Amino acid sequence: MGKPDRKLLAAIQRHSARVYDLIKDDMISDSEKKAVSPIVFETQRGKLYQEDCLVLMPTVADDSVDLIFADPPFNLNKLYPSKIDDNLKEEHYLRWCERWAEECVRILKPGGSLFIWNLPRWNTHMAAFLNNRLTFRHWIAVDVKYSLPIPGRLYPSHYSLIYYCKGDKPKTFHPDRLPMEICPHCVGDLRDYGGYKHKMNPSGVNMTDVWYDIPPVRHAKYKKRKNANELSVRLMDRIIEMASEEGDLVFDPFGGSGTTYVVSEMKKRQWIGTEIGPVDDIVSRLENLGDEVEYLEKMRKDYNCLFTDRCLKKRIEYGLWTPESVKKKHAKKQQQKRLFVENYNQ
Ligand SMILES: C[S@@+](CC[C@H](N)C(=O)[O-])C[C@H]1O[C@@H](n2cnc3c(N)ncnc32)[C@H](O)[C@@H]1O
Repeated sequence: MGKPDRKLLAAIQRHSARVYDLIKDDMISDSEKKAVSPIVFETQRGKLYQEDCLVLMPTVADDSVDLIFADPPFNLNKLYPSKIDDNLKEEHYLRWCERWAEECVRILKPGGSLFIWNLPRWNTHMAAFLNNRLTFRHWIAVDVKYSLPIPGRLYPSHYSLIYYCKGDKPKTFHPDRLPMEICPHCVGDLRDYGGYKHKMNPSGVNMTDVWYDIPPVRHAKYKKRKNANELSVRLMDRIIEMASEEGDLVFDPFGGSGTTYVVSEMKKRQWIGTEIGPVDDIVSRLENLGDEVEYLEKMRKDYNCLFTDRCLKKRIEYGLWTPESVKKKHAKKQQQKRLFVENYNQ
């Protein structure tokens, strides 16, 4: 075919779904054409497969999933329990990502949302690929310090979470409101809110597209799986809360330790999951949700308020402003103004 010209490439991109339908059988290798293995674990809400996502996804109906979250291997030559090759040639890795992403686009419901978690380097490609297929919502920078500085480069300090929806707008979008940022030591303000304190929403501040409050799961006590990236419950709770309703169907093609399935289960979402490698950790997490339920409930108490309970108590103790004190002060000022005007007019 030689080097296709730009017009041809643009036309192929415009009609990518039709082109993919025509050629997909040729692109799927024989090993992937095999039948899907049976479900390995099931709850009332979810089904877990031990399967290559590229084998499972073609069996999922078009337009059937409300929310997809994908956290693929980052191609960093990491050793996974599944022993997958995590050191592919760049071109090979990106073509593989495009294949599962194309399937995500197909199975997503109109109005459904897709989130992909990856290094900025790979997500620039994924965004270019998805821009022709879905509607871009956000590039969310999640502040997580990578382990080591890289010589000659800026210190990488965020992961990228790209967020797309199918159609013009998402059918569900209710981001939590977050507590105001305060000094962790003296609980004082980090910014000067001047005369606008009374205008601050007591339910908390709007979520931005930079997330500073998602800690990596490092502590052995909380880690459910050795030798693997495991995302925090806090991250999955935020995404699932923002982009789905109870009863909605959530899909994650890369199970890992099962964080997406565990959080979906706790938040009463239906879910479908698959992991190509061992699934024992996922099953044992799903069978022992107690600690995770407790953690989630405790964590959610700190959302949708301007100050957490702990912080509010300390602020009162230290004589710092609170929504209540500001409201009172503001009401007093308004009253004084009214009296002044009344006296002046007499
Ligand atoms: C980065 S981890 C996901 C971690 C997960 N989000 C968590 O919080 O535990 C990626 C996982 O995808 C699995 N994987 C890789 N290729 C796969 C494929 N083709 N189908 C299904 N799972 C795959 C790997 O074995 C690995 O466990």
